Amino acid sequence: MKILVTGGTGYIGSHTVVELQGAGYEVVIIDNLSNSNREVLDSIAKITGKYPLFEEIDLRNQKDTFRVINKHQDIEGVIHFAALKAVGESVDKPLEYYQNNLFSLINLLGSMRKNSIRNFVFSSSCTVYGQPDKLPVSEQAPLKKAESPYGNTKKISEDIIEDTVNTGIMKAISLRYFNPIGAHPSTLIGELPIGVPNNLVPYITQTAIGIRDFLKVFGNDYSTPDGTPIRDYIHVTDLAKAHVVAVNRLLKDQFKKDYEIFNLGTGKGYTVLEVIKSFEKVSGTKLNYTIVERRPGDIEKVWSDTIFANKELGWKAEKGIDDMMLSAWNWELALKKSKENK
Ligand code: NAD
Ligand code: UD1
Repeated sequence: MKILVTGGTGYIGSHTVVELQGAGYEVVIIDNLSNSNREVLDSIAKITGKYPLFEEIDLRNQKDTFRVINKHQDIEGVIHFAALKAVGESVDKPLEYYQNNLFSLINLLGSMRKNSIRNFVFSSSCTVYGQPDKLPVSEQAPLKKAESPYGNTKKISEDIIEDTVNTGIMKAISLRYFNPIGAHPSTLIGELPIGVPNNLVPYITQTAIGIRDFLKVFGNDYSTPDGTPIRDYIHVTDLAKAHVVAVNRLLKDQFKKDYEIFNLGTGKGYTVLEVIKSFEKVSGTKLNYTIVERRPGDIEKVWSDTIFANKELGWKAEKGIDDMMLSAWNWELALKKSKENK
């Protein structure tokens, strides 16, 4: 069966393509390579023994989107990763974010309707919960006002998907990711942050390898055991596997409602200092860091209630924090090696 993966050369998309091909699916990727590169296709082929089909188009272009989806008549389901995702950048460029993330989604859903493709999986984010009143946060928690235009695109996208499902033309699953980190064990694919990373883990590994001088820990006066914020970090391969489960659920008619939402996290929260400690332990490297002011817009603590995903999807994140940090470190080391060989 053929699955269309938008954003399939990106970080989470590429790991998901590997899992889909491993599960026997044929994959077509759409990506405009705005935040990834073609070499990822070679890496996927090295890992799985097979090249996915690839269409380099921009989903904002309605004509191209319709043309490409119409060309692949036998697509059974779509996983939609393609989006811009830098929170800070979205504050400076809101229109670019709304245009990219929402027009792409609308064009995609329109093309699916035209071609009677009925199964849709969407990349959402725990950012839609803001600072939850109750922890762990479950799928039933009320959504808070988005902290950024990026976060708002996820909230609006979920509404667009639900309204489309309500017309009866498709079924959909939104997956709300917590904090994905780490890389494939082969170290052939992983996250490629462009410029200075915003996220904690790539910043840690880049500091340890000497690209950055020191990590700034944004605040130690939060109401948490060591004063630093808590997040639910999840390994990207665990996350990728959940997408295969979600696709199977739709294709095999195992869904309970036409539109379902699942949290994808481990259910365990770690403070920034605990993450650093884990990194130092597995890498054998002392990290240079300093405590600075809080980062505006950061929430204090969030971790997921995983009961619904564990029970309904029969999926559970397997990797713990030390595995995740070692995987992130191995990826950084592999990146260094490949740069040296170029
Ligand atoms: P990524 O930037 O690595 O991958 C996104 C891919 O989409 C890139 O390859 C990019 O070139 C492509 N793309 C963007 N706009 C496009 C367009 N208009 N047309 C065609 N291709 C386009 O990001 P990622 O970390 O893999 O994230 C994937 C999805 O998961 C995104 O929707 C993101 O918002 C969501 N998400 C990510 C995280 C995270 O921490 N990485 C957390 C929660 C949700
Ligand atoms: C951020 C986004 C979220 C998005 C996610 C994945 C915000 C408010 N949220 O989550 O919407 O889905 O990225 O892209 O931006 N930290 C440091 N020093 C650093 C970097 C981070 O101390 O240099 C701390 C942060 O304060 C936070 C934790 O590390 O407590 C994790 O930060 P980060 O990796 O940026 O993810 P989130 O902020 O959780």
